[in-house]
Amino acid sequence: MPRPAETAAPRRRSGLGYWPDHIPAWNTGPITNRSPWWRGATFYQIYVRSWRDSNGDGIGDLEGVRQGLDYLKWLEVDAIWLSPTMPSPNHDWGYDVSDYYGVHPDLGTLEDLDRLIAAARERDIAVLLDLVPNHSSDAHPWFVDALAGREAQHRAYYVWADGKADGGPPNNWLCATGDSAWTYDEPSDQFYLHNFLATQPDLNWWHEPVHQEFEKIIRYWFDRGAAGFRIDVAHGLYKDDLLRDNPPALPTDHHAIRRGGLRPVYNANRPEVHDVYKRWREIADNYQPQRALLGEVWELDMERFGDYYGREKPELNMAFNFLFVEADLKARGLAAIAEETLAALPPGAAPVWTASNHDVGRFPTRWCGNDERAVRAALVVLSTLPGTLVLYYGDELGMVDVYVPIEERLDDMTRDQLGNPGRDRCRTPMPWSAEPNAGFTTPVAHPWLPVGEHATANVQSEQADPASVLNLWRELASLRRNGRVGQLAPMERVLLDDQVWGFRAGGVTTVANLSSEPATRDLGSRALTVLASTQPGVQGNTISGELTLAPWEAMVLAG
Ligand code: GLC
Repeated sequence: MPRPAETAAPRRRSGLGYWPDHIPAWNTGPITNRSPWWRGATFYQIYVRSWRDSNGDGIGDLEGVRQGLDYLKWLEVDAIWLSPTMPSPNHDWGYDVSDYYGVHPDLGTLEDLDRLIAAARERDIAVLLDLVPNHSSDAHPWFVDALAGREAQHRAYYVWADGKADGGPPNNWLCATGDSAWTYDEPSDQFYLHNFLATQPDLNWWHEPVHQEFEKIIRYWFDRGAAGFRIDVAHGLYKDDLLRDNPPALPTDHHAIRRGGLRPVYNANRPEVHDVYKRWREIADNYQPQRALLGEVWELDMERFGDYYGREKPELNMAFNFLFVEADLKARGLAAIAEETLAALPPGAAPVWTASNHDVGRFPTRWCGNDERAVRAALVVLSTLPGTLVLYYGDELGMVDVYVPIEERLDDMTRDQLGNPGRDRCRTPMPWSAEPNAGFTTPVAHPWLPVGEHATANVQSEQADPASVLNLWRELASLRRNGRVGQLAPMERVLLDDQVWGFRAGGVTTVANLSSEPATRDLGSRALTVLASTQPGVQGNTISGELTLAPWEAMVLAG
């Protein structure tokens, strides 16, 4: 397994024991136009169970992440977002939290997490945790108590309602599996709400003590050195106080937000949620360095999406842009969404560009149909748009979705849905080498999800190949690092047609042929220098006038 040598940076003890106080905060670095630290930064999402297994039990863990930090440093990553690390019965792999203050024993201990945060900080890498405030696990002591009856102390922490006169659920809301979002609790003769699995009861944000609980949780992790949170289902916390039925979806509604033919008007994206983020932002801003709030916001109306950054008062620092994620890799569509995004965000806000995650799948498959030429072009576009880039582990390799046979699938949310490719396909182990089990765990261990027969690309082979996707990423990463691309700057369109998208930001132009046909375009008489390209060997060349781009060729040009 190619484990880059660990550089043993000296650690001094600070008051907190695990905080290396001589290490500069993660908001320093050579990038000029970056303040606060996340603007224009490169984030990397680690699905912890699948990244690196340090103890041979077939499950990735926090110590594995710590051992992989030098690889992340080599990737020029500024921050990592760890998928849920808290104790959980794992009905939804950590998104069903049973203790907001702990670490899941499969992944390690609290001390392991402290050690990881400190070691990352030594390398100027910030660590974000995943916070799940929309729902808890049904095994959380709050819910266990709530089940004791209508008078229970924590009853109002959850959303309870009486059934309809005919005994049916309180309204027509559907959960993520397509079934009713309500489960009947016979002893108390009421239903509880769950927008996801029945084992994930929704918390009641109309109830003030829930706010206090989460403010305490947030401070606890900030005090432990977490650089911020990725906030799960950030658009979901509040539900309509009257629990009104959702209306039928309109034919024009985006497929990604419809649930069983309904439009999610009343069970998400309620106006009250904004006050939560105004408050959390005040808390985050009071830390040094400032902590970052990155929301999972499924709001596809761009103006309303922009509202989550805060209009009059700041809210989230960043939010995932699912209109962009759900787009196709086509010049006109992608350009329109990127431009619409930049226009809708409040001035100075950091857009987030991402195309893969543990739910939607990997962009090399989703966007690119596993065509490596398209993967390279997409990586060039993603890396050079002005804003924060979030890579999903394996994106840097061009890793594609892995076929997981139905009997090996572990995702309860999707396993029984006919025709749904499921989410396991994009959660399989990181391929480090060509060894058995891809170097993710020991050769004899049984990985929790299959490594997959299609995992041909791996870190070791791509490090050795100058023409690999990984080495293209390194070229792009160094442009991001030295502030040439990715920084917040007005973006202007220089070319746009059915094949080619060209945009210019911060003095650098990206030209991408997002089609499988060659394209010849006039770039004007100015001499432009190639800073990076999908084609190896052209870096440093000067071009002007007519340029013929091969299918899926993309380049970054200065001048
Ligand atoms: C988010 C997570 C997803 C999870 C769901 C419920 O969308 O990304 O993995 O299943 O929330 O917590």
